[in-house]
Amino acid sequence: MEIKPSEKKKDLLSRYAYRFGAMRVRTMSHLGLDIFETERQGCWSKDIDGRKILDALALQGVFNLGRRHPVIVEAMKKGMEHLDLGNNFLMSEEQLILADKLAETTPGNINCAFFSSTGSEAVDLAIKVARGYSGRTGIISANECYHGITGFALSTNSNPDYTEPFGPLMPGFSHVPFGDIDALRSEMSEDTAAVIFEPMIAEAGLLIPPDDFFSKVRDLCDENDTLLIIDEVVTGLGRTGKFWAIEHFNGVVPDIMISAKGLTAGMYPMAATMFTEEVADFFLTYPYCHYSSTGGSDLGCVVASAMIDIVNRPEFLQSINEKGKRLADGYKQLLKDHPSILESYGQIGMHTVLRLADPAGGFRMNRYLAEEGVFALLATNNTAAIRIQPPFIISEKEIDQIIDALDAALKKMKLKE
Ligand SMILES: Cc1ncc(COP(=O)(O)O)c(C=O)c1O
Repeated sequence: MEIKPSEKKKDLLSRYAYRFGAMRVRTMSHLGLDIFETERQGCWSKDIDGRKILDALALQGVFNLGRRHPVIVEAMKKGMEHLDLGNNFLMSEEQLILADKLAETTPGNINCAFFSSTGSEAVDLAIKVARGYSGRTGIISANECYHGITGFALSTNSNPDYTEPFGPLMPGFSHVPFGDIDALRSEMSEDTAAVIFEPMIAEAGLLIPPDDFFSKVRDLCDENDTLLIIDEVVTGLGRTGKFWAIEHFNGVVPDIMISAKGLTAGMYPMAATMFTEEVADFFLTYPYCHYSSTGGSDLGCVVASAMIDIVNRPEFLQSINEKGKRLADGYKQLLKDHPSILESYGQIGMHTVLRLADPAGGFRMNRYLAEEGVFALLATNNTAAIRIQPPFIISEKEIDQIIDALDAALKKMKLKE
């Protein structure tokens, strides 16, 4: 369905362009994402023009539990009766409760944490700790990665679209193709403080490394006294059908893990940098080297703790795998029906992407899906791919609606070939 904005929406868009940039509005309109959300609940929100939108992205994990999950809203309301941000010059029982809960889920002895507000900050801290702990400077990341927008996090990025205007970036950062253990071995040196990887990279069309990849990375890090940082900002908290995606890789224990997005339960900013007890010893020497006035807020801790109580149950994780399977069944049919347009799909739990034959197919699918009332997002480091990562609470009927919308969008791709 062609989307025609009302007069009110046109006015908002022109004011938005003035305040936040015309290019942003142009791009979003092109993708069919010039949406001003009003009501929001579960997997649905409403545009200001009244159009309903089914969420097939969950803001890459922020809305893992959908919008305004009733248990989360209740936890937040209860917290607001007596809490606020908290005072980060003092202690916080809420932070302690969240750290205890996270430590129960993380592999090995990753038992210590620092809380902040965004994934980028949490990545920055991971890199700071790695450098401080090791006394080295080198950080190796994947060519295809995205770890955020702040100083250290941005320096891991090799995509000029993100980095070019801001150079020179931090020294000491280098990149290797994801999954290539020989390239990693060649890049390692006596000055490598840490290797930072996501367990799988959806941003690049869902690159899933072989089962033994992370054991090899772990061995290589151990041989070189290098720390292994695993970024679970997108993949963690159930997305892949296990609580942490690194659990898919033969019991590998990183030195540092990062979580954000889903920790917010879509309600209150929260991010965590989690480290082994050994790495945490770094803070004995530098206890006040890193601080955040508003990060790790008491209210955010209450919300994140409530989220973990919902997701970290075997039956809930099982439901994620079952829904992932239903999506995959739909994709198999789409592959049969659209062989010249749809090349393949990638899937692990509810972490899924569709890969198109057209190198810019992600842009077109974005638009066509929006016309069908479904919000998904192309993969920014692989524009032939579109990410489908719906909220965990999605119903079977809503999954089928996403598959129907994909089918309609693929038909449009064919017509306009
Ligand atoms: C893998 C990964 N790490 C870190 C970040 C940064 O998180 P934030 O946007 O909360 O700063 C992102 C954001 O998309 C991400 O995808």
